[in-house]
This record gives sequence, structure tokens and C-alpha cells, in this order.
Amino acid sequence: MKVCVVGTGYVGLTTGVSLAFLGHQVTCVDLDQDKVDMLRAGHCPIYEPGMDDLLAEAAANLTFTTSYEQAVPGADVVFVAVQTPSAADGSPDLRYLRSAAESVAQNLDNDFTVVVNKSTVPIGSGNWVDAILRDSFALRDDRPEQCEFAVASNPEFLREGNAIHDTLFPDRIVIGSDNPRSLEVLNRLYRPIINQTFTAPSFAPRPDDTTAVPLVSTDLASAELIKYAANAFLALKISFVNEIGQLAGKVGADITEVARGIGLDQRIGSRFLQPGVGWGGSCFGKDTKALIATGAEYNYEMPIVQAARDINQRQRAIAVERLQDELRILKGRRIGLLGIAFKPNTDDLRDSPSLDIANLLIARGARVRLHDPIAGERFKREQPELAPFLSETIDGAFDDCDAVVLVTEWAQYLELDWGKVVGLMRTPIVLDGRNVLGRDRMTRLGFKYLSMAG
Ligand code: UGA
Repeated sequence: MKVCVVGTGYVGLTTGVSLAFLGHQVTCVDLDQDKVDMLRAGHCPIYEPGMDDLLAEAAANLTFTTSYEQAVPGADVVFVAVQTPSAADGSPDLRYLRSAAESVAQNLDNDFTVVVNKSTVPIGSGNWVDAILRDSFALRDDRPEQCEFAVASNPEFLREGNAIHDTLFPDRIVIGSDNPRSLEVLNRLYRPIINQTFTAPSFAPRPDDTTAVPLVSTDLASAELIKYAANAFLALKISFVNEIGQLAGKVGADITEVARGIGLDQRIGSRFLQPGVGWGGSCFGKDTKALIATGAEYNYEMPIVQAARDINQRQRAIAVERLQDELRILKGRRIGLLGIAFKPNTDDLRDSPSLDIANLLIARGARVRLHDPIAGERFKREQPELAPFLSETIDGAFDDCDAVVLVTEWAQYLELDWGKVVGLMRTPIVLDGRNVLGRDRMTRLGFKYLSMAG
């Protein structure tokens, strides 16, 4: 099928490259000429494991352009995946979405095109985009006679760092539209994934247990709400385990055992029950906030979602309190922070716990050293005030430190020769912010081991 993807950010690029890999003819349009040049040269502008390889494998079916005139005409499906940054009041800024929808409408010419909202947008945005499309289309002098279109929602559930795997082998595909023909078109588009008929790339092998992928085909509003509800549920699952973790510390229970003990109940499930400094990234914070805001529009409070947010924020402060309880005085102490990205395998720093923890420590007079295997360059660009505290080497983050905090569980940190680290530090105190280092092991190596649970 012929596909157009508007926006080559994280979601757009992954969608475009994956659909091209599956055999569809994909044109990605982005107004940023530098980005388009880079992609044409076969280079990926985002850090995502495997994306360069997938780009190379899909190259024959992929075109990159800055021109809507080249990308939209003839498309069976147009994905709109532009950025929706937060405005000053926290609400999403839909300016780019509006102008993308207008540009799409000015170039539609197929007998039927599905316009898919792929950006995470507030509930009801499908209807809003539909109205913009219709208004802009009606203003055209060159309106083709036979040209129908409809809006659909097709939320993505991919995790940064696992984007290719999550796109090719998803737990489910959700499509929503109030127009039945759109649902048929999207069903056809995703057939190779639904039936798992494609040959998996060597760098992203098909998991043994993957058979057919369930398709949830529903109305527009339900698809939009599924996206928010899924992210909010995952966020509150993490906050729940972190809340129980604090209680575990107080009553002398081991949160690792508690999480395992509840997670083995299949109704609960063991994933997203990893305790620690909590969630970060661009999605959980933004989406939980938007969900609460949507509730408020209907005069409806959402205290569970609000509590998930509050508990998550509290975890960051608790990390600092743990250090203060142990060191007594934070002023003048040198604290190493391992990991700046909000999770491993990405250089994304948005809402990263590391940044908050660093700022809280600095506010209390501590001297911080931050290290990250990948995100250093981005950190220097995006966080100029904290940039002087970057350590380019791992050893630099330990050197003469009073304590070190594992904030992001990069493999490099897990595989580190921690025995050697003991000798580099002034006092070998480690706060295991992701509950992954093992109390017994670290204690044996000579560390004073602190966990988030106390
Ligand atoms: C999340 C969702 O998992 C995706 O399904 C969704 O598509 C995406 O948001 C989105 O809306 O775009 P992502 O933010 O990339 O994906 O990252 P996750 O792997 O979900 O991790 C989020 C945060 O939770 C990370 O900071 C991670 O360290 C933390 N986390 C995760 C925990 O603290 N404990 C856990 O058990 C799991």
C-alpha cells in the first residue's frame, strides 16, 4: 500500500521505516531539510538500537522529502506524527498538528485516504483534525471530484530503546475510527504484523511465543482513551510498587521478594513492578497530566492517577533523603550519579529522575558528578546549567566520591568491576536506585549498600 508519514521524529520514523520494511511504499515528509538530508544519506537522526539496520533494509521502499506535494497524493494512509510539545500551561501545543493537517488536506487526491493521528494528542483530537481537514479541503480550488478521507486513531505502545521490537511484535494493535472503511484499510495495512507473515530481521528476531497479534478495532474516542489509560496504568503500577517499597523498608520486608510474590499472580503480572527512583521520560508524565486535565474538563477528579504522579515525584526526593540519612551532612559531599538518560538504551533526558536528583543535591550543597554511556553530548546541549558536572568517564563519577547513586540501569553499570570501584571512592556508599545491584554482593565487595526502600 502507499503510505505517507508526516514527521520523522521518534514515532514517525519508527512507523515509516517499519512499514517500508514490511513492503509498503512509504514517503516520509519532514520540513527540516537537514533531517531529510541525513535520512536520505541513510543516517538515523535518533539513537535507537537497530534503527540504522532497519533503515538500510527498508531503503528500497522509502523516500524522504520536505514536500507534501510529493508525499500525500496517492497515499492510502497518511500518518500524522508531528511533535506536540507542552505549552506554558502544560497543555499540548497543537500548532504543528494543525498545520500538518492543513497541508495534508491541500494535497489529498486519492479516492479514499485514511488520515491517522499518530501523535499522542488529547482525547477528542481526532474530531478536531477531521474538522481541520474538511475546512482546508473545502477551500481548495483544485478539489478533486473523487476524493474521500476519514480520520483514525492508531496509538503506538512502543518503548524507547525497544522501538523496533515493539513495532514488529506488539502485544496488540489498536485502531479506532467512526468510519468502517478506514478500519478495513488499516486492517489491511497491518496484516503482515497481525498474521506475523514477514521474515523477521536478523537484529530483531521473532520471540518464540509470538503468533498472531490481537487487533482491537474500535471507535475513535475509545482508541484515543486506550493510549492514555495504558500509560497511566503502567505508571501507577510502578508507583504502587514504589509505595509498597517504602512500607517494606519500614516493616523490614524485602521489596524484591514482595514484588516477585505479587507479580507471579497472573492477574497482576510481574512486568513494570521494578521498584526504584521511579519513572521518567516524555510519556508517563505528560500523559498522566493530560488524562487528569481531560477529567477536569468533565468536572471529574482522577485521584488514582494523581497519586501515581505524586508518589513518583516523592521517590526522587527520597533518594536524596537516603543519602542525607547516611551521610548526615550533604554540604560539600561529592556524589556520583550513574545514568542521566531516563532509562537505558536511549539518550532521552526528558523528565529524567537523574536531573531532579542532581538539582536537589546541588540545592543542598553537594557536589555532583553525572555520567552516562550515551547521553553525555545531549546532556551538554540540553542542560547547560548542569553540564559542568558531567564526567566523561565512569571512573570520574566515582573518583573521591562520598557516595554513588545508580539512577539508570545501563548494562555498563551492571557489568562494572564494582570491586575496583571500592578503592576509587572516599567512602564506598552505593544507593541502588534501580534495585538491581544486589545487597549481598555489594556488601561482600565492601560497599555500604543503600536501597530506595531503606
Ligand atoms: C512508555 C510505554 O511503556 C510505551 O508503551 C508507550 O508507547 C510510550 O511510553 C509512549 O507513550 O510513547 P517509554 O516511556 O519509552 O514507554 O519507557 P518505559 O520502558 O515504559 O519506561 C518508562 C519509565 O518507567 C522509565 O523511566 C523506567 O525506568 C521506569 N520503569 C519501568 C520503572 O521504574 N519500573 C519498571 O518496572 C518499569
